Amino acid sequence: MSGCCLSFRRFAACFAAGFAGCLAACSPPGPAAPPVPTEPAAGVTQPEGWDGELTLALPVDLNPDPHILEFELDARVAEVEIAPGQSVSAWTYNGSVPGPLIRAQVGDRVIVHFTNHLPEATTIHWHGLRVPNAMDGAPGHTQEPIAPGASFHYEFTVDDAGTYWYHPHLDSSAQVGWGLYGAILVEDPADPDAFGDDLVLVLSDLSVDEAGALLPADNGGEFGDLFGREGSVLLVNGRILPTLKARVGKPQRWRVINAARARYYNIRMPGHLLTRLGGDNGLAARSEELYSIVVVPGERADFVFTPQGEPGVAEILQWVPVERGFGTVFNRPREPMLNVEIVDLPAVLPEPIPRELRRIDPIDVSGAAEQRIELTIVTDSDGAVVMGINGDPSWEAEPLHAQVGETQIWRIGNQTDFSHPFHLHGYFFQVLDDARIPEWKDTVNVPTASELAIAVRFDDRPGMWMFHCHILDHAESGMMGHLMVGEH
Ligand code: C2O
Ligand code: CU
Repeated sequence: MSGCCLSFRRFAACFAAGFAGCLAACSPPGPAAPPVPTEPAAGVTQPEGWDGELTLALPVDLNPDPHILEFELDARVAEVEIAPGQSVSAWTYNGSVPGPLIRAQVGDRVIVHFTNHLPEATTIHWHGLRVPNAMDGAPGHTQEPIAPGASFHYEFTVDDAGTYWYHPHLDSSAQVGWGLYGAILVEDPADPDAFGDDLVLVLSDLSVDEAGALLPADNGGEFGDLFGREGSVLLVNGRILPTLKARVGKPQRWRVINAARARYYNIRMPGHLLTRLGGDNGLAARSEELYSIVVVPGERADFVFTPQGEPGVAEILQWVPVERGFGTVFNRPREPMLNVEIVDLPAVLPEPIPRELRRIDPIDVSGAAEQRIELTIVTDSDGAVVMGINGDPSWEAEPLHAQVGETQIWRIGNQTDFSHPFHLHGYFFQVLDDARIPEWKDTVNVPTASELAIAVRFDDRPGMWMFHCHILDHAESGMMGHLMVGEH
């Protein structure tokens, strides 16, 4: 920024009022006023090779039908390069971290021929997708674990636009923590399309020792289980501090997925407002401008980044510590995640982003049954810490019940010292909170010492489903429950 736009507050006000108006108001005095962009962003493309360091692997589609995506997927240990000259032996889908990006349109069929080449059994859960129960990847409930050397055939239709992801559901803290996750993007051609170019950003971290080898999954012992294991290096699309190219005024739509086993992200781009469009399950009812966006484990964020600043300057996307209880931010610095290089091209005028994005009617909760779900961490008579739901670890818990077609209100309480990201399989929900912009979700943060209510409508996919904390160390330590959705 230069001239009278120097102050960030002023800049933010200008941004909210529209960039063109800002530049007009910010004209002389001062010799350094930037030229006023006149060309609209719609007429220009992103800088050449803009996302070249962030490219995700794609699956090889074996099916000629454009509405069927059919491919082979395997899980195997492979060497992956996380920075120039720095490789780790990770757990991968098809040899890459993240695994291949599944990109589909609403109504498409996805067929995955999966083979497990890991030394351990595994399953795949399609996080957020409303798949049939048998495809949900919940071991013991919907399928047997897939043993080393064995295969499983996943097949489902994707009916809802949004940003989703896939990951193992067996020993998930270890398996996800070592690199097993991939992105799924489902697009609806009917959605408004003025948001700029899509970029899928899978955020994760890895625990590596000084020699660069992956630490054992249970590093830190019980403390690791209790606090949740945050890795020592941050990865964006499997790379440490990759570089993205951007042009002033040319919007980019970022689809962010938090695939870390425990880390909360507060994403901040100094000097920029981000326009949030939605999150887990497609667009929210309205867009909103934010200085930072919190994305908890398992959750997604969908927003527009409109680059500002001087060409030639690198901006840095930051990870900002998030208080998630018990001193989790104490003495922790911000960390850089992504370099954004503002290229030396003339600035362009961003397109306005619509305020109203999608009609979302509130779920009708009149007469809805209520369930109480308390996230618990208790000490048993032997002094051992037991994480669970309503006091019971998952292996002792009785399932909750619902009926196909029923609407329920779930009151989720958290009197523990930690915040917990709550995730429900199989069904979308709405958070009952008038202060929030209406949107569909499958994962929501329940802060320490709080309670929130969600409304869930159980559509016609009966079976045994799961819900749990998405700090995977907590889930594997027992903070996971079961839900039987029955047919009349
Ligand atoms: Cu993302 Cu039960 O999981
Ligand atoms: Cu938790």
